[in-house]
Amino acid sequence: MNYKAVIFDLDGVICSTDKYHYLAWKKMADSMGIYFDETINNRLRGVSRMESLEIILEQCDKELSQDEKQALADKKNKMYVELLAQMTEKDLSSEVKETLDMLREKGLKLAIGSSSKNAKFILERLGLKDYFDAVSDGTNISKSKPDPEVFLKAAEFLHISPTECLVVEDAKAGIDAAKAGGFDSAGIGEAAACKEVIHSMHSFSDLIGIAL
Ligand code: BG6
Ligand code: MG
Repeated sequence: MNYKAVIFDLDGVICSTDKYHYLAWKKMADSMGIYFDETINNRLRGVSRMESLEIILEQCDKELSQDEKQALADKKNKMYVELLAQMTEKDLSSEVKETLDMLREKGLKLAIGSSSKNAKFILERLGLKDYFDAVSDGTNISKSKPDPEVFLKAAEFLHISPTECLVVEDAKAGIDAAKAGGFDSAGIGEAAACKEVIHSMHSFSDLIGIAL
């Protein structure tokens, strides 16, 4: 398939910020005496901040008010942003950068499709502030993955139809979102084994063979 564009999820695809999400949620959960582990964390991939909190609170028997929930989400985000602030261009792997450069040299448009409201800050930390042709993120959507809105917006920003775009994801919610929006998908990490995934990737540079 000759794609015209590739839309990348950010956390867990372009960079390993998924590990910082885990650390920040873990600290928040520990401070409340709520059980939280990597398996629960995997369910948060691609899911918005407040929906992630609701999943974590399934382990908590106390009823919390909306204000208390907001305070917990804010506390987690503060810890998360402190971890992001320590990132530098060195946190962008050479495999990822070289693959992106090659796709772009071959004429593909490149975009971000992320549920995160911190996406632009992360791109800045990685030295990718003005690199992508379009950035669709948690600040321009009302429904997060598995709803396709974030990817449909990215395709709209690029002026390219979903059928001509490839979506790259590490989350089942993201693969489902791609399918719902009419996009082909490539899965890395646990998303590589999803039933609905079109292309399974072992490593980021596999995209050269898939997208070109
Ligand atoms: C996604 C992550 O990219 O962004 C989710 O996979 C996260 O785990 C979501 O909850 C929202 O992120 P943020 O930075 O807006 O809290
Ligand atoms: Mg992800």
